[in-house]
Formats: sequence, C-alpha cells, structure tokens
Amino acid sequence: MRVLVAFGTTEGQTGKIAEAIASQVRGMGHEVEVFDTTGLQGDLNPELCDKIIVAASVHEQGHQESVEVFVAANRKTLQAKPTMFVSVSLAAAFEGGMADAQGYADAFFDDLDWRPSQSLLIAGAVRHGAYGYYKEHILEHVVLQDRELDNPESDHEFTDWTFLARAIKEFVGV
Ligand SMILES: Cc1cc2nc3c(=O)[nH]c(=O)nc-3n(C[C@H](O)[C@H](O)[C@H](O)COP(=O)(O)O)c2cc1C
Repeated sequence: MRVLVAFGTTEGQTGKIAEAIASQVRGMGHEVEVFDTTGLQGDLNPELCDKIIVAASVHEQGHQESVEVFVAANRKTLQAKPTMFVSVSLAAAFEGGMADAQGYADAFFDDLDWRPSQSLLIAGAVRHGAYGYYKEHILEHVVLQDRELDNPESDHEFTDWTFLARAIKEFVGV
C-alpha cells in the first residue's frame, strides 16, 4: 500500500508528528510519501496513493493556509479515498480545551467542504525558542490564558505519542 502524509507546520511539531507517522507506517511495511505543503512543489500525485493523512496545526484558531490549498486542490481525490485529518493544537492538551480543538477542525472541514473518513485531535507543543515577542504574547494571553504550566519558561511537548500510534495503526490497518 502507498500512504501519503501531507502536512503543514509553523514551529515544527506537526513536522515531527508527520515524520513519526511516516516512520511507523514504513515499519508496517508500506510505502510512504511525506509532503510538506509549504513547499507546494514536486510531482506528487495523491491519486496514486491508497490512503491519505493530512496534518496541520492551529494558530490563532485556524490551520495553515498551505494545507487548506492542498485540500482544496485535491478535494475530489480526498473524497474518494480513506483519509485522516490530524489537527494539532494546544487546546487539545487541556481537558477543558477539547471543544475548542474540535471547533477548529470542524471550521476547517466546513470552510473546505471536506469530510475526512477520520479525524484526530492531537496536543502540540510550546517552543519558546521559535517565538518572537508577538507570538509569545499571543501564546500567553490568548492561547494559554489562565492555564498554568509547570516551569512556564521551559519548552513543553504535550503530544501523546502512544495515542497517535494506536490511531494510525487502526487507520492504516495491517
Ligand atoms: C502564535 C500562536 C498562536 C496559536 N494559536 C493557537 C490557537 O488559537 N489555539 C490552539 O489550540 N493552539 C494555538 N497555538 C498552539 C499551537 O497549535 C501549538 O504550539 C502547535 O504545537 C504548533 O504546531 P507546529 O509546531 O506544527 O506549528 C498557537 C501557537 C502560537 C505560537
């Protein structure tokens, strides 16, 4: 089987997630194409793939525009195949944030008129080194708000790798 993993990432966590998915699926004996949508180059043909995983992260309540472009450009193919959408956000890292995380994914589906076969809400990361003043401010006052982190100056990775691997195994099959 050939599996496509198309992703968008801004600070790197979704890139790391896409690579982890790719290495897991290769380990299951399948062919994998990893496509960074920000490049939008290369002779990728999603029609030649059997299953497609699209991953994007949330910034200011929306997913990467490059992923929107990828979905819009390939919507017919995506509708015709088994697909999974992986939405990476910080809202998904907090119990009280799951409704927001689901809302970001639903808005993406509505805007693009696309219904993937499955979708996953995955917690992302806080990486201070990747932010300037503006992003740091948004993260603290808009995204985290009153959610306190242990060691707020340090980076945090909230991604549940075991949960992700289990979902990918089920989606890809044997
Ligand atoms: C400027 C900024 C805005 C963000 N906005 C949101 C948001 O609206 N909702 C949310 O749940 N997470 C938000 N996040 C958290 C990101 O989704 C999280 O850090 C994720 O791991 C980023 O993935 P990436 O490294 O692949 O870009 C934001 C992060 C930054 C830096």
